[in-house]
Amino acid sequence: MVSLRMVMQMMKLALLLSTALALTACDGEQTDPKARWTDTAAPASAPVMMRWYTPDQVEAGAALYAQHCASCHKSNAEGTPDWKVRDANGKLPPPPLNGMAHAWHHPLDVLRQVVRRGGAPVAGSMPAFAEKLTPQEIDAILAWVQSHWSDKIYVIWHERDLAASRGLQATQ
Ligand code: HEC
Repeated sequence: MVSLRMVMQMMKLALLLSTALALTACDGEQTDPKARWTDTAAPASAPVMMRWYTPDQVEAGAALYAQHCASCHKSNAEGTPDWKVRDANGKLPPPPLNGMAHAWHHPLDVLRQVVRRGGAPVAGSMPAFAEKLTPQEIDAILAWVQSHWSDKIYVIWHERDLAASRGLQATQ
């Protein structure tokens, strides 16, 4: 006959095993900061979505952002209040990057491209950074920028990013 004690011990073992599995899964995800969540890994009902970047990237990005971007997009990425109003030369002012404006409409690859090429493709005034920053530095800056986005904005952005990486949606 199975005693209550044996049942309890089996339950403990099962609990230990599932915790161990969960921890292994987390380790795997953290060693590859670029790993994208799949639908199975992040069900839509997940209350808080894991982000693609690591705390180290955010920290590195903070210094790089301060050096290269803050003069225009402001120290907290709040940009210019009237970011939709063109100046006398028809140029747009630097927009907020903190999730309040438009930046979250763009998948990660488009954001990387905007930083690399600057505003030239849209006859804008943002300088290109392809010669000044490595791809790793650009990713760190974008990590810092995205760390200012609320979970709500991040989840919507993530859906768009996934759709774009599957080629289901135009990337602009
Ligand atoms: C000289 C000012 C200036 C600097 C420096 C600058 N930007 Fe910009 N940025 C702009 C302007 C102005 C725009 C709007 C497009 C245009 O006119 O070029 C823009 C647009 C953007 C966009 C697109 C936002 C959207 O809503 O579509 C992103 C992303 C961005 N900048 C990120 C950065 C990052 C990251 C850096 C630092 C590596 C940076 N910018 C440095 C002026 C600047």
